[in-house]
Amino acid sequence: MSNDVMISANDLSKNFGSFRALDKINFEVKRGEVFGFLGPNGAGKSTTMRILTCFISPTSGTARVNGHDVFDEPLRVRESLGYLPQRAPLYLEMSVLEYLRFAADIRRLDDDMFRKRAKNVVEVCGLAQVLGKEIRHLSHGYRQRVGLAQALIHDPPILILDEPTSDLDPNEKAEFLDYLKQIGKERTVMLSTHNLAEVEASCARAIIVSRGRIVADGALDEIRAKSGRVSYAVTIQESAGEGGYKGRGALPKKGEVEDALSKLAGVKKLEELPTDERAHAYQVLGEQDVDLRPELFRLVADKGWVLLELHRDAQSLEGVFRNLTIGDERRNRQLGAPAADEQDEDEDPSDEDEESDESDESEDSDGDEKAAEGDRS
Ligand SMILES: Nc1ncnc2c1ncn2[C@@H]1O[C@H](COP(=O)(O)OP(=O)(O)OP(=O)(O)O)[C@@H](O)[C@H]1O
Ligand SMILES: [Mg+2]
Repeated sequence: MSNDVMISANDLSKNFGSFRALDKINFEVKRGEVFGFLGPNGAGKSTTMRILTCFISPTSGTARVNGHDVFDEPLRVRESLGYLPQRAPLYLEMSVLEYLRFAADIRRLDDDMFRKRAKNVVEVCGLAQVLGKEIRHLSHGYRQRVGLAQALIHDPPILILDEPTSDLDPNEKAEFLDYLKQIGKERTVMLSTHNLAEVEASCARAIIVSRGRIVADGALDEIRAKSGRVSYAVTIQESAGEGGYKGRGALPKKGEVEDALSKLAGVKKLEELPTDERAHAYQVLGEQDVDLRPELFRLVADKGWVLLELHRDAQSLEGVFRNLTIGDERRNRQLGAPAADEQDEDEDPSDEDEESDESDESEDSDGDEKAAEGDRS
């Protein structure tokens, strides 16, 4: 494995009882990459992260973090990464400073190192004003910052963040993404989220999982291009409004516009868009390799209509995500479909309670739970 590969998963699978939560996933992440790990509810994001962070072991396959196997060298793996689980493990009765010191002790930082690192994480995570406060008195956003600070305290080269911005308000989200940009300058970051705008803002690459399998992996542009479609927004004036209409053609009725647009060569689909203006607005879908803008413009000019807006968008990440993961949503709504969440788990009893399991996060346990689990083929 090249030194530059920081995370790799090879045919990684995980069964919970008879339910297969992960099915032979493969991916590689290089040093310095910040990538979005996306997928609908129950797709297997947290399961993958929990394997990579040594909380559960795979049923089969292997994973390496910073060159270390998660099964054979869990301590080395844990030293290499900071992990913010979906539910951040915080001791609510501790003050922020006490908690950071506790996290640093577990990471075996000496006093000098703690002072240096604490100064840095307090600055990066914006915690200066709340250091003396008990964590239970903090807002959710601040608790997330504390969770991020504990993940960063030992200056790990890899960060694994499981939905760090869920439940944050828009201001807190924006701030969190700013921190992430700073942090990601010199680290490999795996970020799971349901917010695709966040991925667009902070990641160059995304991996999309659906029902335990990877359905897309690549640069965001490559993933968007997967749909093979391009969309155009076209808005045509409906009536004269104030000041009257000075054009040469008649102002068109809705049916007329729809008819003309749908007959245009290369148009695959037409959808009406809501508009506050007195206008007809449509989203026109065409093939990736044909630019429909000249034809759209010519049509409007020939008819003598007034064009208020014409622009082309690559298919959005959201559109591609929906296309690739639509089966999950259908399955979730069908009675009689396998109910993944009702399966018995096949893990060590100590792993039964998700909360307590995750609250052990900072304790550098050496993966006993995995040894006990014994389900690795
Ligand atoms: N300990 C467990 N015991 C039984 N099933 C589990 C266990 N952990 C996860 N699962 C199941 O595995 C599947 C994947 O779960 P996972 O938590 O990885 O999904 P996710 O992609 O993180 O979803 P979300 O977006 O809702 O957080 C789900 O169907 C879940 O019910
Ligand atoms: Mg999850």
